[in-house]
Parts: sequence; structure tokens; C-alpha cells
Amino acid sequence: MDTYQDLITQTFDFPNADFQVRDNELFFHDIDLMALVEKHGTPLRLTYLPKISSQIQRAKQWFAEGIAQTGYTGSYSYAYCTKSSHFRFVLDQALKNDVHLETSSWFDISIIRSLYEQGKVGKEKFIICNGFKTEEYKRDITALLNDDFVNCLPILDSPNEIEYYHEHVQAGKHVKLGLRLASDEEPRFQFYTSRLGIRYADAVPLYEQRIKEDPRFELTMLHYFISSGIKDTSYYWTELSRFIHKYCELRKICPTLTTIDIGGGLPIQTSIQLEYDYPYMISEILRTIQRICAEEGVPEPNIFTEFGIFTVGESGATIYSILDEKLQNDKELWYMIDGSFITNLPDTWALNQRFIMLALNGWQRPYRKIQLGGLTCDSQDYYNAEKHIYQTFLPQLQPARQEATTDQPLYVGFFHTGAYQESLSGYGGLKHCLIPAPKHVILDRADDGTLTDTVFAPKQTAESMLKILGYTE
Ligand SMILES: Cc1ncc(COP(=O)(O)O)c(C=O)c1O
Repeated sequence: MDTYQDLITQTFDFPNADFQVRDNELFFHDIDLMALVEKHGTPLRLTYLPKISSQIQRAKQWFAEGIAQTGYTGSYSYAYCTKSSHFRFVLDQALKNDVHLETSSWFDISIIRSLYEQGKVGKEKFIICNGFKTEEYKRDITALLNDDFVNCLPILDSPNEIEYYHEHVQAGKHVKLGLRLASDEEPRFQFYTSRLGIRYADAVPLYEQRIKEDPRFELTMLHYFISSGIKDTSYYWTELSRFIHKYCELRKICPTLTTIDIGGGLPIQTSIQLEYDYPYMISEILRTIQRICAEEGVPEPNIFTEFGIFTVGESGATIYSILDEKLQNDKELWYMIDGSFITNLPDTWALNQRFIMLALNGWQRPYRKIQLGGLTCDSQDYYNAEKHIYQTFLPQLQPARQEATTDQPLYVGFFHTGAYQESLSGYGGLKHCLIPAPKHVILDRADDGTLTDTVFAPKQTAESMLKILGYTE
């Protein structure tokens, strides 16, 4: 009999540092997941805070090593891109690791104000204000500037944006500005150039005509972002080179331009198998910048990154019970979960995003090729392919004959689900077919290593949705 454990250990390098199996049950970062399920039930959303810190520290270490190896002369700063998860517990944890912050919209500035009032962010913190700016966003950014948040950097996303700061930044203030360049998209995209940022050709005139002569402003940062992520492809290296050449061109006429921001896009693990060589990519980025700066005879810039998914993605897990199985024809066996992919893990549906998927128990049982079905009525609410094998396997639902327990349900976990999923599905809001958001539990380690679990939010209630729908006050 081939067990689920045989399948996983023969397919992947398993166990590894993050996942182990003890007595046929899965442990994640040494956390007994079945114990948590017994205590909190399912569906269950977990956030393991220590992973946020360790991710930040890993990236800082890779950059430090890359800088040492290459002799790069600029510095490296880590900013956290708040949109990947705005929760307070995430920001609190990230800020423990000396990070700066990147914002993307109006309400983000209220978060910055709140963190400031709590003493978690000082006025010297770099606040990199990205995104297309509405009137309200510009207003709140300007209030920070006039309030002496000296490292709050509006990143100009459109040539007209600067007019607002011209009009509303007080005389005598000294404001650092950034400028985002519009990258060309990957060839498979439906359009050629990103709608975000300023055309390459407009960068120098914008600086010459609207920034240079005003004593309140200095251009210090050039920014770009590759939406398909930091990948070892000729497209990525071409866009990086084009960006660095533009930095060099501007640097020659603008001596205050000391820094580049190369955006987010550092990937996370979406399969148990390690697949990404982080130190190599980071060293190659440094070498590329170094080479072009040497050719052009300009100083190597300081580097900022704004990693979102990398910071918070691997801290998350989402656990479901298998409620029932349905054999819909001779071959297609469905396992029905007590949640929904569309509403709880919307990237699986919208972007075909894959996550690490593993059974929590039943590892001694034979495995089955299955499709996972969500509770909404939508035919697209399913998950049936892993990153590499385009199939999904889980233990059989019925306990094996020799098992002592006869009534233990089967549980499945999706791992590294910590970024973007709640904001895309509308946390606390209406959900497709009114399938509620899972209970959310925050896991942390005390100084002596003991695991703590705190309920952040109970499972969403009918009352919360009825109120939004106007049935109740
Ligand atoms: C400007 C900018 N910076 C950073 C990020 C974060 O990207 P990621 O979560 O892939 O690191 C995004 C994501 O859309 C972005 O638009």
C-alpha cells in the first residue's frame, strides 16, 4: 500500500526545516497543527508572527552578503509594502526589524498616523508614498510633509502630481521626492507599458522644469517595479538595465539623486521543493547596477526594496476540514472543504496562484487523486493542481482498516497564504454565497520558545453580513 507519506517523501525533499510529520500528523514550524484545529476548529486562518521577522532578516542578510562579496558601495534598506497585509499585528512585527514603510493609497496614511501616535514610527522613518494619488491621498501626504515627517517621500506617479505639492507644501520645508518610471510589461501582457509611473522620456524634463529650481524640493529617489516579480529572465535583466541607465542619466544632472527603489517582487515558496536561489539573484542585481554605474561613471546608488509577499506570505496558513467526498463520474473524486477558494484564497481563482497544500493528518492512509471543491455555487471554486504536477493528492477520507480511530475527519492545510488574500476578498465584508471568513488566530513564541495563540477574529457571523445587507441595524 502506498501511503500519503510515501507519496510526499518520494516526490519532494521532505521533511524540511518548516514542515515535519510526527505520528502521521503535520507540524509547521514545530507547531502541532492538529492540536490547534482541535482547540479552534475549522476553517482556520493562522498567522505565525516569527516568520515575518525571519524573512526580513534573511533578505537583509542576503543583501549584506551580496554587498560584501561585490564590494558594492551603496547601502541597502528594507521597506515593507503595507498593501500585502495591513493588519496591525503584521506592521508591529515588521517594525521590530527596523524596516521602513511603503504606502499605496489614501488610508495608508491614517495607518502611519496611528503608528506614529503609538510611538512605533518616528518622523525620521522613510515613508515611501507610491501609487496614483487622489486628492485625499495628496492632501494627507502633504500634511505629513508639513508636519516634518522628514523622510516621507512622495513618489511621483504622474507628471501632474507635483503641482499639488508646489501649491500646498509650506515655504521653508525641505521635501525629498521620488519619481517612479513606468516599466515595460512582459511581452505576454495585453499592453506594452505599465500605467503606473512616468514615461522614461518625461523623467528628465520633469526634473529640469518642475523640481530643480524649487528650493523646497530635491529629487533623491528613482523607483520602478516589475509586476511579474524578480525573476532570472532576460526580460527582468533588460528592464533592470534600462532603469539603471536612466538613473545614471539623471544622476549626472541631479546630484541629490542618491537612491533607487527596485520595488517588490521577491517570490515566496509555493511548493515544498526549494526553487529559488535568492543569494544568486540579489548578487546579480548588485553586479548589474555596479557594472552599469562603472560604465557611466556615476556613484552606485543606495538601494531600497519594498517586499510585500516575501515579508508576510510565508507567515500564513489556512486550514479546512474535508466535509465529504463526491465521485462525480468514474474518475473525478471531489473533496468538499468547509470554506471557499474564491472567498478565502482569491488568488487561487483570479491568478491561478498555487500554495503549498498538505494534509494535516492521515499520512498513514493510502493517497487519492482528488479535486478540492469550495462551498460557493461557482463552478470555478476549486483547486486541483499543484505547482509542478498539475494534480492534487490527499489521503483517502476513510481511515485505513488498521487505524484505531474511526471518526477523525481529514484536514487540509494551505501554507504561505499570508499576503493579499484578506484585502482581495474584503475582510469582514460580504462574501460570494455568504461563505464566512474563517476564524483568525495569531501564533507567536514567548522568549522561552513557548507557542502562544491569540484569537484575532472569530469566524465571521451571519449578523455581520446581515447588517451590511441592511437586514439589521
Ligand atoms: C509599487 C509596488 N511595490 C511593491 C509591491 C509589492 O510586491 P510584492 O508583494 O510582490 O513584493 C507592489 C505590489 O503590487 C507594488 O505595486
